[in-house]
Amino acid sequence: MAQRIDVKDLNVYYSAFKAVEGVSMSVDPRTVTAFIGPSGCGKSTFLRTLNRMHEVIPGGRVEGSVQLNGRDLYGKDVDPVAVRRTVGMVFQRPNPFPTMSIFDNVAAGMRLNGEKNKKVLQERVEKSLRGANLWNEVKDRLAKPGAGLSGGQQQRLCIARAIAVQPQVLLMDEPCSALDPISTMAIEDLINELKTEFTIVIVTHNMQQAARVSDRTAFFNLAATGKPGKLIEINDTDKIFSNPAEKATEDYISGRFG
Ligand SMILES: Nc1ncnc2c1ncn2[C@@H]1O[C@H](COP(=O)(O)OP(=O)(O)OP(=O)(O)O)[C@@H](O)[C@H]1O
Ligand SMILES: [Mg+2]
Repeated sequence: MAQRIDVKDLNVYYSAFKAVEGVSMSVDPRTVTAFIGPSGCGKSTFLRTLNRMHEVIPGGRVEGSVQLNGRDLYGKDVDPVAVRRTVGMVFQRPNPFPTMSIFDNVAAGMRLNGEKNKKVLQERVEKSLRGANLWNEVKDRLAKPGAGLSGGQQQRLCIARAIAVQPQVLLMDEPCSALDPISTMAIEDLINELKTEFTIVIVTHNMQQAARVSDRTAFFNLAATGKPGKLIEINDTDKIFSNPAEKATEDYISGRFG
């Protein structure tokens, strides 16, 4: 089941440093939302608060609220591990389990969830690797370690690993930054397919990609180095790219800064 996300007045800290300030936004189920904005404005930081990955960083904490289908993600009774199962993530830098085989990398999450049936595992691993446009390159070396893949292949392996557990929300932090145009197109196709069932948030520096894959676009910016990043505006992607409300958004998307 796809889930809606509601964020209210979120501040995100690294110890005393406020990296993101005052973000409120809603993300509808079965939509793709793109986060854009200059380097260092807090896109990755904010994204990680949506599945409680921010708090694993020493000094990492949040103020404000994040709700998933109306339920407080940071509630006292909420298990962060369960949250991360529901809200999957592909990180900006590929992080496969290096000594684990390609197959086991993709199967790892399913096994953690208790799946033991070999046939189910095999089918899901193949489907996920196909979805990530990696199957043809690895089908004859599934038992080899994940670390033996190229950077772009490792990124696709991590995408396969994330979708294999069928999360209800998928957070993707610049998933295509290390990919060639063909794999990029395959990932965009995959995103289009996934959004029929899931809720997707993607960070991208590629404006064309944001325009192609997303329904909604959120522009983040920061006033100066050392100041917190803020959400400047969020709207339908068509609107953001044709007629943004804020001048800073227009300057950014037309390449005048950032
Ligand atoms: N682990 C950390 N500890 C302390 N500060 C951090 C940490 N990670 C990020 N920051 C700081 O938080 C701010 C936001 O960083 P973040 O990585 O979220 O930016 P971003 O928008 O994702 O940038 P990019 O487009 O380069 O990926 C920056 O000032 C960064 O230096
Ligand atoms: Mg980032």
